[in-house]
Amino acid sequence: MLFQKGQTPQFIEIRRIAYQETYPLRSAILWPTDPSQVPLPTDPDGIHFGLFTSSAASASPISVISLFLEPDSQARFRKFATAAEAQGKGYGSQLLDHMLSEAARQGVKRIWCTARTNQTGFYAKRGMSIVDGTESLQKGVAHIIMEKML
Ligand SMILES: CC(C)(COP(=O)(O)OP(=O)(O)OC[C@H]1O[C@@H](n2cnc3c(N)ncnc32)[C@H](O)[C@@H]1OP(=O)(O)O)[C@@H](O)C(=O)NCCC(=O)NCCS
Repeated sequence: MLFQKGQTPQFIEIRRIAYQETYPLRSAILWPTDPSQVPLPTDPDGIHFGLFTSSAASASPISVISLFLEPDSQARFRKFATAAEAQGKGYGSQLLDHMLSEAARQGVKRIWCTARTNQTGFYAKRGMSIVDGTESLQKGVAHIIMEKML
């Protein structure tokens, strides 16, 4: 249980969710025009987190992120999204921190992601570094690999 900083205390809960619960936000926020990009073949093997607030209209998460453990104490996170109306309020940062703590607790030493290039500033502020400068395109969206040592 967490309480958001601000004038009105708000109940915030971050918990593990089923991968199917990430799909509405993945679809609406990340791939609104390409539903084929929403499910990942590896989803059943991932650890999926959702952030919920007391003011959410339903029992749906308002921010989601998925963690995939890899060999050699590494992990990748994917499909990070906050509902449009909830962005810029600190929810994503709290969810990212929670996921990183959980990864560290599970023995992860290096975590990486393919960041959308318009989000590299967000990740850099949170301790992630660009691995090399090579951009790749995924369905027309530019990405770059970033990493963080835990
Ligand atoms: C990236 C994303 C998941 C971040 O989620 P979020 O909930 O908006 O994240 P936060 O609110 O914690 O942080 C966003 C900004 O708001 C700022 N912020 C944090 N708390 C705040 C508050 N209480 N009031 C106002 N702004 C705040 C943060 O400082 C941050 O700005 P910064 O990067 O300049 O520091 C979200 O923007 C998103 O879904 N984007 C579209 C999909 C996407 O690009 N996903 C990532 C793919 S790699």
